[in-house]
Amino acid sequence: MLQPHVGDSLDVLDTPAMLIDLTLMEANISKLMGCFRGSTVHVRPHLKTVKSAALARLLLAAGAVGGCVAKVSEAEVLVQDGIDDLLITTEIVGKPKLERLVRLVQQSSHIKVVVDSVAGAQALNQAMHAAQQHIDVLLDLNVGQNRCGVLPGDEALRLAHALRDLPHLHLRGLQGYEGHLQHIHNPEERAQRCRSAMHLLTETARQLKEAGFAIEIVTTGGTGTAEICASCEGITEVQPGSFVFMDVDYRNAIGPIYANALTILSTVISRPTPTRAVVDAGLKSLSTDSGMPEPKGLPGVTYQPGGDEHGILRWDARAGLLNIGDRLELIPSHIDTTINLHDVYYAHREGKLEAIWPVSTRGKVQ
Ligand SMILES: Cc1ncc(COP(=O)(O)O)c(C=O)c1O
Repeated sequence: MLQPHVGDSLDVLDTPAMLIDLTLMEANISKLMGCFRGSTVHVRPHLKTVKSAALARLLLAAGAVGGCVAKVSEAEVLVQDGIDDLLITTEIVGKPKLERLVRLVQQSSHIKVVVDSVAGAQALNQAMHAAQQHIDVLLDLNVGQNRCGVLPGDEALRLAHALRDLPHLHLRGLQGYEGHLQHIHNPEERAQRCRSAMHLLTETARQLKEAGFAIEIVTTGGTGTAEICASCEGITEVQPGSFVFMDVDYRNAIGPIYANALTILSTVISRPTPTRAVVDAGLKSLSTDSGMPEPKGLPGVTYQPGGDEHGILRWDARAGLLNIGDRLELIPSHIDTTINLHDVYYAHREGKLEAIWPVSTRGKVQ
């Protein structure tokens, strides 16, 4: 296959292909980073969205203090690529993962991980002890998402006290991610519920400090709440990820604050009727867990998956709107799960390829 090169027009790309509109993405990054310039609250973007060392470097250059990852395997790739100040935001449990984490800590002393149980912390301490290593840990607090996380207040205090007996773990702070609030459509309700969740987090941080624990990091927030979190006293860090590209689901929830900068370029391969066309992008190119992708610049045209490899477009009024061979961009409904389906990003400015970046942590789910 002919390889596309920087400088080529998008016409040379085979489809489906994942595109970044650089102008829009750069505006998203500078908008979010601009909100925190001069503030004491740092930005540690969640790299589970972009899954790319190249994009992590762009975010660091824009002022990020480091990155978050969800998985040890993501951290392994990024550390190899020189991005080593990483917070792993998921509890690490089980011998294989702990062994990988030990190797990671041997490569970077800036790896941090969350814990939410005595059993988990003991196993982590034992693994670090066996390798004569230490690791910075944050208590993962349940501020209402009811996923992982120890309860705020006394339970968190009990866990912090238990960590005192585990000398290979250094308690540095708290994480309290309010993922259940990110997509609340009503901005007042989102802000009000976010402030209540932040109160649980900052109040627990205060209690821990009062009990003598050195709590330096209090980290939280996503694209839908980062600014609200940062306005709450005691928060030191926010971890948004989706703002870089956005998606249909997020835009419908929080409005067009950030632009939809990522699309999947596809080709019409069949047009069985004047109001129905089929593109070469199905479930293996576009996720649908958060609704349907949206054809860009084609109001009134709807997309639905037609199986693994096909997407079906329908429209009513404008018969013959799309023809065989036409190319169109589809805006994903959920970028995290869509990006993980692709090998590379084709980054362009006004249709001219400016960079080709591997999705370097693609498939890194362990
Ligand atoms: C722990 C944690 N922090 C931050 C984020 C980033 O959120 P968003 O993509 O909504 O900006 C996520 C996303 O799932 C997350 O799980």
